[in-house]
Amino acid sequence: MKIIRAKDYNDMSRKAANIISAQVIMKPNAVLGLATGGTPVGTYRQLIDWYNKDDIDFSEVTTINLDEYRGLSGDHPQSYLYFMHKNFFDHVNVPEDHIHIPNGADPDAGRACAAYEEIIRAAGGIDLQLLGIGTDGHIGFNEPGQAFELGTHCVDLTESTILSNQRFFADGEEVPRQAYTIGIKTIMQARKVLMVANGSNKAEIIRRAFFGPVTPEVPASILQMHPDFTLVGDSDALALI
Ligand code: PGA
Repeated sequence: MKIIRAKDYNDMSRKAANIISAQVIMKPNAVLGLATGGTPVGTYRQLIDWYNKDDIDFSEVTTINLDEYRGLSGDHPQSYLYFMHKNFFDHVNVPEDHIHIPNGADPDAGRACAAYEEIIRAAGGIDLQLLGIGTDGHIGFNEPGQAFELGTHCVDLTESTILSNQRFFADGEEVPRQAYTIGIKTIMQARKVLMVANGSNKAEIIRRAFFGPVTPEVPASILQMHPDFTLVGDSDALALI
């Protein structure tokens, strides 16, 4: 496990973007596992900036996103596909048919998840997985208490995740209560894992996840066992370690 200290959010974003950029330079047809949430937005912004300066090319890259709400189609403004288009895909040259995200519009969870596992397998697995971390330790939508050995599956979101995501939905609009997510097993099979974390609200969970026991109660803690795991955190997120 490598921990990289960044001064602030911008510095964290630049450092993470540098690691992703290095991956794409080393392997232009890399399979990038991508994440939603507020934390990686600055990383995407930095990559877009370098793309605009002709410093990085995504034309051969394949992307595999972590998760999607069950019940939202890709054109819903709160769907993760919509988020990814707005914050990244619409501004760079990842070919449309190289972009993958679980199909939230498919009500058949078994079918949607099996299809996604097949996409990951056919792509040859994930070269670099970008992750945020939830304040409860979730990665993707792998909430506390789930088995480590799962592939892509349907999850019931915890109350704390639903509450923390409420801010993105219009007043009175229901946050979906389930999602399709890549499992911990799939994340652990990624050849490199890169986590970004910022802000003092992440400090306690960062301490528990990476300096406490490895336990399904803190899903991110399994990353202690990953052979190539890098955490890039700002000084607030790393304040307790
Ligand atoms: P955040 O979400 O980046 O919006 O804090 C992280 C996560 O829940 O994985």
